[in-house]
Amino acid sequence: MDLPYYPINDFGPLMKGLAIGGLGIIHVFLAQFAIGGGMLLCYLQWLAQTGRCRQARAFVDGYFKVLVLVSFVLGAVTGVGMWFTTIQVSPRTIGMMVDEFHWIWAIEWTFFSLEVTAGYCFYRYGKRLNDSSRMALLSLYATAAWFSLFWINGILSWQLTPGGWTETGHVWAGFFNPSFFPSLIFRTVTSMAIAAFAACLVINLMPEGNREDRTILLRKAAHFLAPLGLMPLLGVWYFATIPADSRAYVMGGSAAMTLFMSLAVLVSFLIGAYSLLALLKRTMYMNGATSLLLLALTLVATAGGEFVREGVRKPYTVRMALYSNSIRPDEIEHLRRVGSVTNDPYPLLEAEELPNEQLRLGAKVYRFQCSICHTTSGVNGLKELTHAWSPEQKRLMIAQLQRTKPFMPPFAGSAEELEALVQYLQWHGEGQPDDWPETHDEEVLAQIQQWLDEAGTQAGQAHTGDVANSGGEQ
Ligand code: HEC
Repeated sequence: MDLPYYPINDFGPLMKGLAIGGLGIIHVFLAQFAIGGGMLLCYLQWLAQTGRCRQARAFVDGYFKVLVLVSFVLGAVTGVGMWFTTIQVSPRTIGMMVDEFHWIWAIEWTFFSLEVTAGYCFYRYGKRLNDSSRMALLSLYATAAWFSLFWINGILSWQLTPGGWTETGHVWAGFFNPSFFPSLIFRTVTSMAIAAFAACLVINLMPEGNREDRTILLRKAAHFLAPLGLMPLLGVWYFATIPADSRAYVMGGSAAMTLFMSLAVLVSFLIGAYSLLALLKRTMYMNGATSLLLLALTLVATAGGEFVREGVRKPYTVRMALYSNSIRPDEIEHLRRVGSVTNDPYPLLEAEELPNEQLRLGAKVYRFQCSICHTTSGVNGLKELTHAWSPEQKRLMIAQLQRTKPFMPPFAGSAEELEALVQYLQWHGEGQPDDWPETHDEEVLAQIQQWLDEAGTQAGQAHTGDVANSGGEQ
């Protein structure tokens, strides 16, 4: 069994996940703006051409400019950036996504091309066209944009709930997985809300038009906030489809997840409550500052939601199929026998600074197995997490990593590697002295081996309440 090794980047004190996460959140937000924006433009064009709202036409052109600038330019830049960062951070995950969904990516790309082409044509010629051609272009734009969400949503939701794919490996079983529809509708509703708040902001910034016109437009745009009323229901539905252990993390199992989840829910609730109030109380005027604030809050809610979605997948990047550190569950037994970094060809950057071979081995093990979620001394720093533990405790906790925290994968190396890792952490804990003895105590290694055997090579189980018989692998 030969597993692939890729170069592993070091972002210093910043955890890798955070490096992707930051860009990902902005990209998702912009992409959702593009999708909701397309739908909103169709609606307003329809209002304009059926004589239901004479102010709508001028707005459609103004709003479209903003949409094109923001979503095409920034959306495309961050989109390509996403490929760049995710490949830096987890090439094997991306490899698996491409392998499994090759044609889906291709289809997604054709829809994206259609979206860009239709969008560009409207941008260029929209003003000169008659109503039905305008509508045709906008519908094409909006449909293509929504379908690019449709396709990408299948792949992203597959990572968390691969469904029948786990057994059959069938592409459609993976694509139309258990959380496909709740997540698709959830994102559609979010997109509509983002588009509506952005529209409120643009309406306030328009140079032409009086307050009355603006009020009329604002009220029309606010119609796109109505689906927010479905959010609680959609949230519950989505929640019901995700694995039980993932659910347990956000309900107290992991402090950070629970915190971010609460933040996302609270902020979404505030946004939803305000929006519905504004809809019902028809005289309410949403000014520029309020629109901007609501838009910013939607970004916060998106950030919280995306963070949780990525976080609750731990210890996997593709549930049951690939751990976050790019090791497949069925490779662990083999790696315990031959060592996880025995065949890792990439040299250490800091090799010269490490006083002995054992520490170099430990550094490689850390880099390969832990550095995707930890730093040595920064965000989620191992030095800080383990500083109170004796070497003995470190050995036990790492040998049974999946029991220590079920959102960590099992340790995937030999007893010698584990001891080297413990020494590496010890050495960091004691301020990286120039001299450091190697340890090769047979008894210690035998004890580690015993702990490793006891822990087994299976993933851990979340401990919270109903999780024992995890119905996770639906
Ligand atoms: C999938 C991501 C992930 C991987 C891979 C991972 N960890 Fe963790 N680990 C975490 C998270 C998240 C925490 C929780 C930190 C907290 O509680 O604040 C954690 C906590 C810990 C703790 C503290 C446990 C406690 O009870 O306080 C130790 C020790 C630790 N990890 C060691 C390791 C080692 C060693 C490796 C590599 C062999 C590793 N981890 C790999 C995500 C991971």
